[in-house]
Amino acid sequence: MTKVQLKGVRKDFGSFTAISQIDLDIESGELVALLGPSGCGKTTTLRMIAGLEVPTYGHILFDDDDVSEVPVQDRNVGMVFQRYALFPHMTVEKNVMFGLKVRGTPSGEIKQRLEDILDVVQLEQFRHRFPAQLSGGQMQRVAIARTLITNPSVLMMDEPLANLDTKLRGEMRRFIRELQQRLGITTIFVTHDQVEAMELADRVAVIFDGVLAQYDTPEALYQRPNSVEIADFMGANNIFDAQVSNGVAKTAFGDLQLDTDTKPVRDGTGRVLLRGEAIDLLLGEGEASQNVITGKVTAREFFGATVNYTVDCKGETIIVNEQSRRMVDVGQDVWLTIQPQRIWVIQDAA
Ligand SMILES: Nc1ncnc2c1ncn2[C@@H]1O[C@H](COP(=O)(O)OP(=O)(O)OP(=O)(O)O)[C@@H](O)[C@H]1O
Ligand SMILES: [Mg+2]
Repeated sequence: MTKVQLKGVRKDFGSFTAISQIDLDIESGELVALLGPSGCGKTTTLRMIAGLEVPTYGHILFDDDDVSEVPVQDRNVGMVFQRYALFPHMTVEKNVMFGLKVRGTPSGEIKQRLEDILDVVQLEQFRHRFPAQLSGGQMQRVAIARTLITNPSVLMMDEPLANLDTKLRGEMRRFIRELQQRLGITTIFVTHDQVEAMELADRVAVIFDGVLAQYDTPEALYQRPNSVEIADFMGANNIFDAQVSNGVAKTAFGDLQLDTDTKPVRDGTGRVLLRGEAIDLLLGEGEASQNVITGKVTAREFFGATVNYTVDCKGETIIVNEQSRRMVDVGQDVWLTIQPQRIWVIQDAA
């Protein structure tokens, strides 16, 4: 499998800079998600890796070979798009074989690869159907099969699940992840959905406005975002101004003891991030020992397995997310507590 590296890559379209500067190392066999809002440059980055665009500056390396100037047909990459554009007048197997036919691969080899790939994507029983006779998820599997049959060394997917409904998206994510791990193929997956990126990827590259904002494991991105923008994009809702001194964060709703053993914090201004599921909501004052925040429940949102409580704490709003094993009423006085090691501090530049 292939290791992919972007070194100082920039892309200008005329006077417009789509990608200012990206450095990215993708390990062989890794699944990396490119995540970011619409227009941030995900597709442009993917197209440069594929060879459909040439970087204005910088280099793209496959296994340490500079491929920046190598055209798409000589890079051995596979692309799957959101609009999978199957040939409507061809059956599933004809669609899947098409790429090998146009390359002039011997028909014996095509037949063998077809059997292997239909097995991999579990489409044997649909092989004689036409695209119009398939579900969205089945069509997407045909699109993946059509790409995989060419044995690409890097697989690229640009929002391949965007057209599917929520349940099918979940199924296809698990399918893609399982397939990717079984084949061990280096994969780059573009999405603007942070849940999708976290569920699928070994590492996530967050791109804002043509700049790589953070490149990390899903867990690190979620728990330890580099900036408020990233925290926000990853769905954080409890972000508060704080004044840090001697390992204590002073906030509008009280002082929070920080864990300075595992992460040193400088004195100065910053933001504290409190993940809603890391906060314990207590109904009595006596139960809590440290980092106690008093408040009152002002709203409740029920999601089935979990509940969100909106808690007013001295004029600040804290959202607490917990299992719905119990229900706390709106209007109830509560005591919130959070362990120091569950508080993440985003500090202003020194
Ligand atoms: N060929 C082009 N000429 C000029 N500008 C372009 C071209 N291709 C992309 N852009 C611009 O570059 C920026 C990044 O585009 P890109 O398609 O990479 O975004 P994206 O992150 O994939 O967004 P989306 O999530 O909406 O697909 C956008 O502002 C876009 O308008
Ligand atoms: Mg795009």
